[in-house]
Amino acid sequence: MAEKNLLHTRVCDILGIRYPIIQAPMGWVSGPALVAAVSNAGGLGTLANQLAQAGGTTAKPGYELPDAEEWDRNPVEWERRAIRQVKSLTDKPFGVFVREDTEFLKMLAEEGVPVAVNSGGPPPSMDFYKRHGIKVVHMGSTVGHARKCQERGVDIFVLSGYEGGGHDPGGHEKLTTFAGLPQVVEAVDIPVLACGGIADGRGLVAALTLGAEGVRMGTRFATTVEAANHINHKTAMVQVSDTGTVRVGEKWDGIVRTIKNPFMKKLYELETAGASIEEIMAWVGHESLRFGMLQRRILGEVQGDIINGELLCGQIAGLVKEILPAGEVIRRIVAEAEAVLRAYGQVSSGSLSLDQCLTGLRRP
Ligand SMILES: Cc1cc2nc3c(=O)[nH]c(=O)nc-3n(C[C@H](O)[C@H](O)[C@H](O)COP(=O)(O)O)c2cc1C
Repeated sequence: MAEKNLLHTRVCDILGIRYPIIQAPMGWVSGPALVAAVSNAGGLGTLANQLAQAGGTTAKPGYELPDAEEWDRNPVEWERRAIRQVKSLTDKPFGVFVREDTEFLKMLAEEGVPVAVNSGGPPPSMDFYKRHGIKVVHMGSTVGHARKCQERGVDIFVLSGYEGGGHDPGGHEKLTTFAGLPQVVEAVDIPVLACGGIADGRGLVAALTLGAEGVRMGTRFATTVEAANHINHKTAMVQVSDTGTVRVGEKWDGIVRTIKNPFMKKLYELETAGASIEEIMAWVGHESLRFGMLQRRILGEVQGDIINGELLCGQIAGLVKEILPAGEVIRRIVAEAEAVLRAYGQVSSGSLSLDQCLTGLRRP
């Protein structure tokens, strides 16, 4: 059982962590160094299931990974190595973004991975996870998804809202984090994590106020020193403004939110203008949109081409101004959240006016 503190929730007990702050799974980004840094700081790091050593990454030591093609030749064994690297860097709990195939799951159990993380329809392998004592954190984007996850025995539901970076924020229904959250927490009894559009302590307290029992963040952690993505991607993220991202892919069921660079701007224009799939494929430069976009992603996030590559990023990036170590990010978020809670405590005890409290929140 994790030691209690002001931010302690059921999520801390279930996952055995100190703070209810979870780092989202991010292909090519959440490698062993980031995962261990987050878990060592009291949150929960989540290892991606598609990784590679990015050329210009600032995350130097702690792990050796192959290039992207070599990883794809033997993903289960490379994932095993990455898991072992995490275990060599931390003795704290961590999660792994799973592939629901037999070999992958067998390897997870052999390596004693404590938390399985996934998204999409309710996880088909719940019996396997229960049998091996693995906790299950599952992402969806509606009240209906949350109910189904609860019925299937998922331990923690993650509500992914429209604001978020990367894959499928808000799904086809486009529900936002802060509209969806109170509706989801009223509908289910299992703990809910708010995901999408949160990057600081104010966001954490806002989510807790609406009934979430923690937060899951991608964008904020993709801009940390330990994240495995190319430094050009991180730099582009901390320079982006409130309107600097775009969401594409509804037309071909590959929804992502990314930085609005020249490649993505044109893709968005084509999609919204009703271009045919053939025209879109021609712009992406591949006869399969799935593989074409994957290549664009490697180009952007691993190789650092910020003009022609895909650079996943959430709307909250405009709030993130610097590249910091992940542990420092967690320390700051915890301190900010505690300060907000204390300030509201002072308002209710009468020693601070609401105006003074809100002034403090505007300039934390
Ligand atoms: C750089 C980056 C890479 C991501 N990669 C993946 C991924 O490979 N698979 C996935 O399901 N989600 C991915 N995501 C989405 C995150 O898991 C998470 O849902 C999202 O970042 C939450 O919103 P936020 O960015 O506002 O914190 C990625 C997000 C970012 C920012």
